[in-house]
Amino acid sequence: MDSGEKFEIKIDGIRIAARKGQTIAESLLASGLRVFRRTKQNAPRGVYCGIGICFECRMIVNGIPNVRTCMTPAEPGCEISTQYDTAMDCTNE
Ligand code: FES
Repeated sequence: MDSGEKFEIKIDGIRIAARKGQTIAESLLASGLRVFRRTKQNAPRGVYCGIGICFECRMIVNGIPNVRTCMTPAEPGCEISTQYDTAMDCTNE
């Protein structure tokens, strides 16, 4: 079984390992990261459904907010940031 080409991605400026074929969420979970965003009340959120339905895994990917990381492939050099939801967002908790 091919485990996929290795490369690096950045999360909040820190480099972590990823493999071709992984989603961003898989890469983050494999690196031990569990908190992907914070709600307006500063509550931690991460992967919940893992299939693109709950939107709990949203992060900022290459400057684009609200990206569902469980549905987005990791790509070499991509830069990911923890998302801090604000009162101006029209998203769910
Ligand atoms: S974990 Fe539910 S949409 Fe990503």
